[in-house]
Amino acid sequence: MKTLYKKSLLQLSDYTYKEIIYLIKLSQFLKKQKYDKKENKYIKGKNIALIFEKESTRTRCAFEIAAYDQGANITYLGPNDTHIGYKESIQDSAKVLGRMYDAVQYRGYNDKIIKNFKKYSKIPVWNGLTDTFHPTQILADLLTIKEIYPTKPFKKIKCAYVGDAQNNIANTLLEAAYITGLKINIVAPKIYWPKKNFLFKIIKQRKKNKNIIYTDNIKKGVRNVDFIYTDVWVSMGEKKDIWKKKIKELYPYQINKKMLKMTDNKNIKVLHCLPALHDKKSILGNEIHNKFNIDNGLEITHDIFNSDVNLSFEQSENRLHTIKALLVSCLSKKSFF
Ligand code: CP
Ligand code: NVA
Repeated sequence: MKTLYKKSLLQLSDYTYKEIIYLIKLSQFLKKQKYDKKENKYIKGKNIALIFEKESTRTRCAFEIAAYDQGANITYLGPNDTHIGYKESIQDSAKVLGRMYDAVQYRGYNDKIIKNFKKYSKIPVWNGLTDTFHPTQILADLLTIKEIYPTKPFKKIKCAYVGDAQNNIANTLLEAAYITGLKINIVAPKIYWPKKNFLFKIIKQRKKNKNIIYTDNIKKGVRNVDFIYTDVWVSMGEKKDIWKKKIKELYPYQINKKMLKMTDNKNIKVLHCLPALHDKKSILGNEIHNKFNIDNGLEITHDIFNSDVNLSFEQSENRLHTIKALLVSCLSKKSFF
């Protein structure tokens, strides 16, 4: 396989099936090294900038800990920390940072900014979430799915995605389905089905996509699946006044006891990238529950979130191991397998 050295990750389909499988294997290898307290530092002295136009808990911390564990240094640049975009163009800022850092993680709104950042900085750029994509999240999700079914190929695993299927998670999950053969049922009202224009590159390469189904019929969409994946109904960057419309249209697609029963699968597992609005214990959770007179979760009920079927904390931990694999494969010339 061609080495991943200095390869950027702007969207999941920048990587081939073989490269994704390599990254998953490397994540498993690095996870074991960490658990065994025998971690080698493969990227000692490398310098990484973490640029965030939006808030983050998991992505930021996973990049920071992955870098520390591997001997690299990071600089965190939050939404109000730099001149980027306001007093200085993306082009100029990218040229400056490209001369100081070995690689950059960028979480932003628009994919064009990330593409431009790569172009002008001339260093590898990892997309840490945009309005359209969230590739480092889906890498962690693929690892989590593999941990549940270690010997099953992705094409034999079925996942339903329910809720807002036009967001970054649904889009990237669709890319994963195209690349790995993972069976995906997009289960949402028609107006929330993915726009798919972002998929043109991979649709051209792989025309057959019999593993992907679009339906607004919940019963049909979740029957016999191995996983149900959901995400918040209103993503970062969307206006708050859209909550009313989205709750009205997406409430039937909430993950709850009734939906799990419809799967007819006693081993059903639930995936969520987090943060999740499943109770009133966050400020936003409290506000939305009270405003819309809801008492048991938005996209997922509190009881299901708190049950054993929920893998979201495994997914969160796997952000660390998969992001570490990304850093190591991009910043070290070592080939592991
Ligand atoms: N899942 C995810 O990307 O979480 P953060 O927004 O906390 O990084
Ligand atoms: N769709 C969500 C994902 C958060 C990790 C958002 O963009 O806010």
